[in-house]
Amino acid sequence: MATRSTKVAKAAKGDKGDKTAPTRDDARRARNAELGRLLSSLPCPQALLCVQTGEETDVAAVTAMWVSYDPVIVAVYLHPGMRTHQLVNQGRHFTINVVDEAQNAKALLAGSIKGKDPGKLEKLALKFEPSESIGSPRVAGAAASYECRVLKVAACGDHDLFLGLVTGWSVRKGGKPVVRYGGKSHAIGTALEGPAVKYPH
Ligand SMILES: Cc1cc2nc3c(=O)[nH]c(=O)nc-3n(C[C@H](O)[C@H](O)[C@H](O)COP(=O)(O)O)c2cc1C
Repeated sequence: MATRSTKVAKAAKGDKGDKTAPTRDDARRARNAELGRLLSSLPCPQALLCVQTGEETDVAAVTAMWVSYDPVIVAVYLHPGMRTHQLVNQGRHFTINVVDEAQNAKALLAGSIKGKDPGKLEKLALKFEPSESIGSPRVAGAAASYECRVLKVAACGDHDLFLGLVTGWSVRKGGKPVVRYGGKSHAIGTALEGPAVKYPH
């Protein structure tokens, strides 16, 4: 016979004695999968964030978005546990490097190596170039690079939003930017026909 305390413990787990009944973990997993489907339906530029603070250099895969044309401001959203989050907070500058198709495998590898790993940069075998306006380097071969000074940091749900004031940039002629969509990296497709509309107006 179940005692009151075991009944309470089972109820807390969503377990009514039926092994097939969904548990709280099942519900959490289902919700995460649903949110993953929802947010991966929003296509985003895929980038490599590079930060150098003192002797420390790190690179992470991120998605990014532009915010303002003049001045140029871009946004990245970093998980508070990330090493790059910590380094950007310390150094207050970073580069956003739009991943070129030729770099996609390295970008995905960068997105899988978490925390301090002394062999990370060797494993990634990326080349770096000095920036013109900040101490964090650019990633060579990127479709475009933006040199950013941290303008604002805001806690937003489970990530922190970093707004970067762009103080230098380069766009590589013939670059092939990668977009993240549906949980996969994509090449940009063909332009669609339509009336010519300029934005910003
Ligand atoms: C395609 C892709 C996009 C990612 N975008 C983000 C992102 O926007 N924000 C984030 O916090 N982590 C993102 N990640 C996860 C980080 O890149 C990953 O956790 C990385 O290993 C962190 O490295 P760090 O601990 O050295 O900072 C992404 C990973 C991939 C593969």
